[in-house]
Amino acid sequence: LTSAQYPTLRRNPDFKTLNDNDVAFFKSAIKSPAGVITADTPDELEPFNQDWMRRFKGQSTLVLRPSSTSEVSAVLKYCNDNNIAVVPQGGNTGLVGGSVPVHDEVVLSLQNMNQIREFDPVSGILTCDAGCVLEVLDNHLAQKGFIMPLDLGAKGSCQIGGNVATNAGGLRLLRYGSLHGTVLSMEVVMADGRIVECGKPLRKDNTGFDLKQLFIGSEGTLGVITSVSILTPRRSRAVNVAMLGVSSFDHLMEVFKQAKMDLNEILSAFEFFDRTCLNLVKRHIPNVRAPFDADTRFYVLIETSGSNKDHDDDKLSTFLEHVMTEGMVEDGALAQDATQAAGMWNIRETITESLAKEGGNYKYDLSVPVAQLYDVVEEMQKQLAERGLYAADGSATGAVKHVVGFGHMGDGNLHLNLTSTGWTTELTQAIEPPLYKSIQRRGGSISAEHGVGLMKAPYLSYSKSADFIDLMKSMKKLFDPKGILNPYKYFPPS
Ligand code: FAD
Ligand code: MLT
Ligand code: ZN
Repeated sequence: LTSAQYPTLRRNPDFKTLNDNDVAFFKSAIKSPAGVITADTPDELEPFNQDWMRRFKGQSTLVLRPSSTSEVSAVLKYCNDNNIAVVPQGGNTGLVGGSVPVHDEVVLSLQNMNQIREFDPVSGILTCDAGCVLEVLDNHLAQKGFIMPLDLGAKGSCQIGGNVATNAGGLRLLRYGSLHGTVLSMEVVMADGRIVECGKPLRKDNTGFDLKQLFIGSEGTLGVITSVSILTPRRSRAVNVAMLGVSSFDHLMEVFKQAKMDLNEILSAFEFFDRTCLNLVKRHIPNVRAPFDADTRFYVLIETSGSNKDHDDDKLSTFLEHVMTEGMVEDGALAQDATQAAGMWNIRETITESLAKEGGNYKYDLSVPVAQLYDVVEEMQKQLAERGLYAADGSATGAVKHVVGFGHMGDGNLHLNLTSTGWTTELTQAIEPPLYKSIQRRGGSISAEHGVGLMKAPYLSYSKSADFIDLMKSMKKLFDPKGILNPYKYFPPS
């Protein structure tokens, strides 16, 4: 697929087409010879044009990889002065087509800005370049007894700047809250090249507008984040992981309520997935085995984290006794060591990869009241079946193969996923408007964590009012008057 798939998104003719003088400027502004990739090396260019799902593809002929904030500033000033459109890019693991160009926008990759600037072991405040990979940061903190307050399946590639720019949620949000609470300050380069400190690495600072909050989740449309200060908690000494098999969604909710009651402050994750998700993981991921035999409709992964193993073990056994004796759970297993715990997490974390391997993967990250999470999946199955596009036994060949649900139950965040042989406009139309209408009716949000990007820009009005979108456009004008930052995304096409 190329941007030709989005015929309504014409290239904005106000943006300049790059010439040799522009490339010469960028080569002079970025000191490292590896910092500029051009069409002379198409194989090197390609991964920056293609998203993780291989669904969205741009046509950029230039990737810039600055090594310092001042280089980012020089690049953006030049782009702004010359009307050159720019796509900020982190680890390129985004799932909504926001991180790759649509046409020939310059890719500004933060890959080479990957230094840890400071860590204070008393306050737990970490300050680092935006291009630091999440897992690298977490490993660094592990040596000091701390942990990053967020964790995602993409941790080996995604960058903290990308996490902040998307307001990523992930597997630890239930415990440590969103980045709106843990990010303390950031350094941002504005579209015109100005370098702005948004706050200081302090827990409390009540001077001026809290502008950093605007950049969290702004998906590269307001400025380029070049460094982040984030509050990191102590790593828990006692961690337990259990996987349980549950026969109905009503039982799953009972288990969730019981977990909150019995495990309360030590509950650090409550993730669910349906039977098809587990089967797809077993099909696509080598050496994966479910920790027990029961074939149930739903599975739940529960993690506790605390500072006293005996105390946590007691709480967990009370909880397990409740859910087993009261018939909420069919079967289950408690990890006996770190390897078994990692094996259980591996099942949950490889669902994304397994679905992607099925072909055209339609992904949705929806917020809905917890009680209605799985109704959304069943509604989609029913609606597609009525149109002859889906059959639970797989007999509707050529259309939708699987309609599955998994996600961060503890956060009311459903990942509805569909797989097909590819992505077509017809199927997208059959799925998206009715889905988003249903989410609006349920009082939910069309994006709980992946963001808007290119994929959901036309549907923003299902979650935000016209007045709200107008206000967003005014802020965009203020921060990026020429609209050079991540064009065609985030805002509904006019
Ligand atoms: P990119 O994909 O490169 O960019 C994402 C957006 O941020 C783009 O709009 C880009 O322009 C902008 N951007 C990137 N860096 C900057 C910067 N420095 N300054 C300004 N703008 C910037 N997401 C979740 O929320 N929860 C999950 O549990 C989760 N799990 C995932 C699991 C897998 C296997 C995969 C592939 C993805 C998952 N994601 C998840 C989605 C994705 O990983 C997150 O959105 C992640 O935060 C993106 O980070 P990135 O560095 O890859 O950013
Ligand atoms: C997850 O929770 O695994 C991620 O958000 C990725 C996905 O939705 O596939
Ligand atoms: Zn998720």
